[in-house]
Amino acid sequence: MVGVSRRDIAAVALWFGGLSVRTRALILAGLTLLIVLLVWSVANARQEAKLVRPDPDLLPAQAELTRWGAERGHGLYQSRCASCHGTEGRGHYRQGVPNLTDKDYLYGTGQVSDIEQVVLYGIRAPNSRTWKLADMPAFGKAVPYPREKAMKPLTPADIKDVIQFLHSVEGKPFIQESAIRGGALFADRGGCYDCHAPDAKGEPEIGGPNLSDNVWLYGDGSDQWLFQTIAEGRAGQCPAWFDRLSPVKIRELALYVYSLSHGSAKPKPSEP
Ligand code: HEC
Ligand code: HEC
Repeated sequence: MVGVSRRDIAAVALWFGGLSVRTRALILAGLTLLIVLLVWSVANARQEAKLVRPDPDLLPAQAELTRWGAERGHGLYQSRCASCHGTEGRGHYRQGVPNLTDKDYLYGTGQVSDIEQVVLYGIRAPNSRTWKLADMPAFGKAVPYPREKAMKPLTPADIKDVIQFLHSVEGKPFIQESAIRGGALFADRGGCYDCHAPDAKGEPEIGGPNLSDNVWLYGDGSDQWLFQTIAEGRAGQCPAWFDRLSPVKIRELALYVYSLSHGSAKPKPSEP
């Protein structure tokens, strides 16, 4: 440490006294600004620590802090996510980008930690911690699922039967005979039950969507869209950010996305 003696202080005072009034005012204003900035950044760093330290799922109980984090995530969402998920978070059903404002989740149950996991490591992204346990096989191809060579293709007639079965679980009008054949395929040869659950309500641990709730990731649930999905397969991708954004930024994004489907934490009304 360099010691500051009384003589040093006196010298600075003498020097300061010799300056013009204008220069003195400028220096004082600069110093004040510096102090304000310092105080602000210390307060900010404290608040950020409160945001990243706890288990993310405990945050929503702290409404103020959650709202603060979500508000900061909003701008980042617009620059990093809105191009795919839309400025309001409603997704694009024609491109298979999910709506983030509903309570229907592909992975997990929509807790902050589930969302944060997706923001960190993405879905089918090139890193070892990403979600990629299963893809939707292409049942119209000779080898529907290269990961499981034993899986057999389905004929177009089989696929139409499975679609009738899906209509029956959704509570839509369906052709009974065809739906019965489709139900057998779903529970057996098609292997659908394995990734979408025997009751077709989905497997959130592997990202197998619920097929009974009439909420669609791809298209509008019409026969045409369903046929395309089942015949050609699907494997949507969401990018990973762990290597590009700080833990604070990632948590802010997760809180913002959480707020989109949890009204009380909402930073701003997102209705157009
Ligand atoms: C190996 C696991 C697996 C099997 C077997 C499987 N699926 Fe899927 N399916 C998925 C995954 C994963 C997705 C989501 C793909 C994505 O997110 O891009 C999906 C998506 C779908 C979708 C689109 C849902 C939406 O919201 O748009 C439909 C419809 C569907 N599957 C029907 C079926 C049917 C019918 C069968 C049986 C013939 C079947 N799946 C067999 C894993 C599977
Ligand atoms: C290049 C387009 C793209 C970008 C950019 C993108 N996403 Fe995604 N995101 C997707 C797609 C496609 C899926 C669905 C993947 C699948 O089919 O499994 C998805 C899925 C998700 C999910 C899971 C939703 C659910 O229902 O479980 C979350 C959460 C999510 N994204 C958040 C984000 C956030 C936050 C950002 C910005 C930091 C972001 N995404 C950027 C395309 C994108």
